[in-house]
Amino acid sequence: MVKHTDVARSASVQLASPQHFELPELGGISREQVEVHLKLYDGYVAALNGLRKLEADLSQDVEKNALALDGAHRRCAFEFNGARMHELYFRQWEHKAAGLAPGGILGTALTQQYGSTAAWEEEFRTVAKTRGIGWTVLHYDREQDLFLNVWVDEHHIGQHAGVPIVLAMDMWEHAYMVDYTPAEKADYVDAFFRNLNWSVMEGRFAKLR
Ligand SMILES: [Fe+2]
Repeated sequence: MVKHTDVARSASVQLASPQHFELPELGGISREQVEVHLKLYDGYVAALNGLRKLEADLSQDVEKNALALDGAHRRCAFEFNGARMHELYFRQWEHKAAGLAPGGILGTALTQQYGSTAAWEEEFRTVAKTRGIGWTVLHYDREQDLFLNVWVDEHHIGQHAGVPIVLAMDMWEHAYMVDYTPAEKADYVDAFFRNLNWSVMEGRFAKLR
């Protein structure tokens, strides 16, 4: 028997399009590094679209394809977040670097919780030292009016529910290995911060307040 949900899934497949980013020359992060990384981002969008088509095809016979569908469903968050996290990441460097204003809406809120923006950054950088591949993320939890510095394995494991992302730093080796060795990843973190256009993160936070 064909279920309603199976019909809905096979009726149309919603495909994502890779986004374009207006990136300036970055200090400490080479053009080659950025291009390698953008190609990987495109790959995530392509993989997400391929997965959505696969799910639609497999859903034509959910009983016969139950095992394959199970695997496809489990892969969704990896591919979706692989695309979305990189979109958050590259937007943060768009146009030109601009510092975090201590008296701005975000700087003020971080200072209220951590004592200073420097204290927040120190904790964020400590989280970034977590071993393995993943992301360091600054979340803002509207339920508790609280920032959270969080480590995410891969792209999706450890994501906290219902808390939007204000800042996302890629800590996969592919994010820096054109320019740095793994032992030098603190230099990559320095460069990541140096190039940030904080007006992007101010804008994200302003929408959450
Ligand atoms: Fe990446």
